[in-house]
Amino acid sequence: MAFSDLREYINYLRSKKKIIEIEDEVDPILEIAEISRRATYSKLPPLLFKNIKGYPNWSVITNIYYSIEAFYDLFNTNKLEEITESFLDKMSGSLPVSFSNKIRNLFDILKLGKILPKSKKPAFKEDNNLNFNKIPALKTWPKDAGRYLTFSILITKDPDTGVHNLSVYRIQLLNEREAIVHWQALKRGSLTAFKYKEKGITKIPAVIVNGVDPILAFVSASPVPPGLDKYLFAGILRNEGVEVHELDNGILVPSTAETVFEGYVDLNDLRLEGPFGDHLGYYTPQDYYPVFKLERTYSRDNPIFHATSVGKPPLEDAWIGKAVERLFLPFIRILIPEIVDMNLPEFGLFTGIGIFSIKKHYPGQAKKTMMSIWGLGQLSLLKMVIIVDADVNVHDLNEVLYAITTTVNPSRDVVIIDNIITDSLDHTTPSPPLGSKIGIDATRKFKEELGKEWPEEVSSDENVVKRIMPLWEKIKTQYRP
Ligand SMILES: Cc1cc2nc3c(=O)[nH]c(=O)nc-3n(C[C@H](O)[C@H](O)[C@H](O)COP(=O)(O)O)c2cc1C
Repeated sequence: MAFSDLREYINYLRSKKKIIEIEDEVDPILEIAEISRRATYSKLPPLLFKNIKGYPNWSVITNIYYSIEAFYDLFNTNKLEEITESFLDKMSGSLPVSFSNKIRNLFDILKLGKILPKSKKPAFKEDNNLNFNKIPALKTWPKDAGRYLTFSILITKDPDTGVHNLSVYRIQLLNEREAIVHWQALKRGSLTAFKYKEKGITKIPAVIVNGVDPILAFVSASPVPPGLDKYLFAGILRNEGVEVHELDNGILVPSTAETVFEGYVDLNDLRLEGPFGDHLGYYTPQDYYPVFKLERTYSRDNPIFHATSVGKPPLEDAWIGKAVERLFLPFIRILIPEIVDMNLPEFGLFTGIGIFSIKKHYPGQAKKTMMSIWGLGQLSLLKMVIIVDADVNVHDLNEVLYAITTTVNPSRDVVIIDNIITDSLDHTTPSPPLGSKIGIDATRKFKEELGKEWPEEVSSDENVVKRIMPLWEKIKTQYRP
């Protein structure tokens, strides 16, 4: 079900009594984040704060992705992977990458035109009074460097293909018109910046938007492969195209965004970002990132500001990670066909630990799969990869432990790779974004790997099972004290 904007979603939540509306005054400095984290840990539904200290005409929404249930509700199914599976079935397994004319025709032929972005008159107006000091951006942890945009979307456009990138990066507000953009090296914003730089352009047209429909906001936090337009991907998940409006700088923005900040990212102006309490549950140390410079602002009447706070798991980003895991599994299976299932456990922090089951056909395949995973988009950030056989339920951590204990000979089955790109937030490495990786091959070994036949696993005698079943039922029901 597609919501046209954040307001429609809030009304839907109201109709389902799944929103908590708070009239008491709250301070965006630390208080909203403190309450919101408690709400997520308690699996409470989204919170709408309506009385923000110092920001009279604003409200703030947090905790939209309060658990995996929020996604089941949003997509009207608890089988999230079926959404992308059914789309891929329609495409016969091939991926569209942009909405150029060629693809547009193909889409029309396939009657998928409805998922393309549609031009619509904006619901926002130019607002010369608005600037970064006038929005209720949160300070989320006591030692954060300042106020941050935590669920705003940075939009950039590929200079060659016109593909749009919509990305959730934390953005540190410096003053009325400047903010530091924390994009990691292998993210779309950073990769696009590199393309502009190669052309000698160092002021990259960019827009920050806040307050959009929850599926578009989710897509902005999702690892959609860089060549694939995020508006297009959002259209696939919404089963309806996103309504967009073109700004003077040529960037398409959602027509119903609550606030829009048009400007550019200045690659020649790098400043120290942080510290910021991040999703590892630690403050990330300071590092240099480029500055967004604000030129024009737009807003809707009485705007709603979307924010979150990260910290020790499981907070909203953990549930976003779970939804990403389910929705992207069908795409990953196209690229790495032996993968059966995957688990990015909430407490593995999404980029920390990934467990993958595979259909193993040949010796050395588990290590080959690890390399494929580390070579695939944002999965390359995974610090620890565990590969198990297809019959292991990757979501049952005890089954995974059993597989590790019974299949791994560490000197043969553990791979360590040093000095490779890793999550910049990982404080365990001396010089991020370089770090190391560990891969564990916890599959049963072929003769070529073990040097002898794999031993036989115990299993019951079928005839004995048949014979004792009546007695066993009696023991469970009648004899049981
Ligand atoms: C609340 C939240 C904050 C995030 N902050 C950052 C950030 O500061 N830097 C970053 O590179 N990714 C951050 N991410 C992850 C990106 O949103 C994610 O990798 C997404 O795919 C955007 O990357 P892309 O531009 O390559 O698509 C954050 C995600 C969430 C949910």
